[in-house]
Amino acid sequence: MVTIKDCQQIINKKLAGLLLPGKPENLYDPIRYVVELEGKRIRPALVLMACNLFTDTIEDAINPAIAVELFHNFTLMHDDIMDQSDWRRNKPTVHKKWNVNVGIISGDAMLIKAYEYLALSPSASLPRIMEVFNKTALEVCEGQQYDMDFESQARVSLQEYLHMIKSKTAVLLAASLKIGALSGGSSDSDAGYLADFGENIGMAFQLQDDLLDVYGTLEQFGKQPGNDIASNKKTYLLLTAMDMAHGKLLDTLQYWIDQKIFNREEKVSQVISVFDALGIKKITEDRINLFYDLAMQSLEKVSGSNLRKQPLIQFAEMMMNRKK
Ligand code: IPE
Ligand code: IPE
Ligand code: MG
Ligand code: MG
Ligand code: MG
Repeated sequence: MVTIKDCQQIINKKLAGLLLPGKPENLYDPIRYVVELEGKRIRPALVLMACNLFTDTIEDAINPAIAVELFHNFTLMHDDIMDQSDWRRNKPTVHKKWNVNVGIISGDAMLIKAYEYLALSPSASLPRIMEVFNKTALEVCEGQQYDMDFESQARVSLQEYLHMIKSKTAVLLAASLKIGALSGGSSDSDAGYLADFGENIGMAFQLQDDLLDVYGTLEQFGKQPGNDIASNKKTYLLLTAMDMAHGKLLDTLQYWIDQKIFNREEKVSQVISVFDALGIKKITEDRINLFYDLAMQSLEKVSGSNLRKQPLIQFAEMMMNRKK
């Protein structure tokens, strides 16, 4: 059975052998740059681990796993432009190191490379895999658009937020498991339960990402904390705080949300002080645990022994304790 560490090694090795032309440098160097940085390789690992639940030979799942990771890296490159983020995986983002146009076109090229690898999936499961991938990729775009729209939308319900993070983040984790399961010859029902596991872990994962954007450190998280607060992202933390706050705390929150010109550090620390006064960290952690429990319930429904599911159980636990 392959562990998450084995999977990460397999993926990193394959990515290191990614064949890209030398020229134009401004198209291909940023792809090499971003792909060679230390990503956690969660999604391709899920592809391989899901495949391994149903077969001992995971070779067939490696190409679709690479496709999923390349797609994810493409979304990161464009997301960093959209979010005006300066740091990714502890290094300057592509649009900072090069420029925005380079980030756009390199991202596009990476998406095309993703499809090149996807097309190398085992031919028997290729149509299904392609269908899952396309549906998911479009949903990610939808989630990303809602995420941007919500920045300037005064009222966002928790339900709208949960739908948004499901689309931008959770569906890709679900799809990774489904694609792996299909490559391994699973039944449709097992692929479905695995996707439910992935979706719930994905929801927990994005909540944790929102939390780390407030309480993490650049050194560990690899991204500059405070970005979400600075750009009025309607995160779980901000929405919960807006729901709970009254009087002076609510005034403080609204004041900082409304400021068009502000000192970044001051805004971030003032908003965090409201979060702290309301105990938002604990509330978010409780919600993360709730999604974790739902994920484990879905995993139990997948056929196979607990021993066989051990790598996925370990993965879920790792995700709960992550700092990066
Ligand atoms: C970051 O994903 C984007 C989100 C969906 C929050 P990861 O945290 O998996 O990023 P890498 O690939 O490990 O850098
Ligand atoms: C990113 O969400 C989701 C996608 C890239 C599709 P975030 O904007 O929260 O991700 P980070 O925090 O920049 O990694
Ligand atoms: Mg974003
Ligand atoms: Mg972002
Ligand atoms: Mg984030």
